[in-house]
Amino acid sequence: MSFEGKLRLGVNIDHVATVRNARGGAYPDPLRAAKVAEAAGADGITAHLREDRRHISDADIDGLMAGLGVPLNFEMAATAEMQAIALRHKPHAVCIVPEKREERTTEGGLEVAREENRLAHFIAPLIEAGSRVSIFIAADSRQIEAAARIGAQVIELHTGAYCDAHAEGRFKERDTELDALREMSAYAHSLGLEVHAGHGLNYETVKPIAAFPEVAELNIGHFIIGEAIFRGLGPAIGEMRRLMDEARDG
Ligand code: PXP
Repeated sequence: MSFEGKLRLGVNIDHVATVRNARGGAYPDPLRAAKVAEAAGADGITAHLREDRRHISDADIDGLMAGLGVPLNFEMAATAEMQAIALRHKPHAVCIVPEKREERTTEGGLEVAREENRLAHFIAPLIEAGSRVSIFIAADSRQIEAAARIGAQVIELHTGAYCDAHAEGRFKERDTELDALREMSAYAHSLGLEVHAGHGLNYETVKPIAAFPEVAELNIGHFIIGEAIFRGLGPAIGEMRRLMDEARDG
């Protein structure tokens, strides 16, 4: 499967499961949402199986693996349990994310630099099994260099601090965050890493990130699922796609 050229949109459907779990039943079904997303132009679906299963369940992952027509980006913590699940399913992509406080850098990404040896051994079998391994990190050259050294093919840059600064009107800090993301996208790309980005993106914050030429994929969830309440899931995704294309073309 080739993904070259166009900026890809991965739609994260975790919060469809959050709404479902609020009532403990089967509705709304994340797989159904994923299929609507696919029809609306999502290039991939992202789902995070958390250790506490607070939204996506093991059965959701089974259903997504069996029923999706686009690649699944399986987000997980670097634990033995999650590694076994990923090795059983062999999803297109595995994104390693922090779940525990001690696994985080201050900016919220994974602390790769401090855990290089463990993570190198952790991701090797996943790569061997054919998954593309991505590491969710802050825009920090130390973390990027460590991700490259452990053999990850992809990094996903954490856009949360940039989005928070925008939402809170701290525009100077927002622009500093944006500069760091821009610089680190180029740096990671120069090291041979594929660059993704995500967390907290919405219609107001997506375009500057989508405009970075090195970014190959954006993963967006919470805002799209929220916006679906007002305009429906397909149109909410369609508008995100339109803004991404506009940023990329202009
Ligand atoms: N990318 C990664 C690695 C994430 O963990 C998340 C949140 O689950 C996202 C992107 C999407 O973030 P949001 O739901 O805020 O759009």
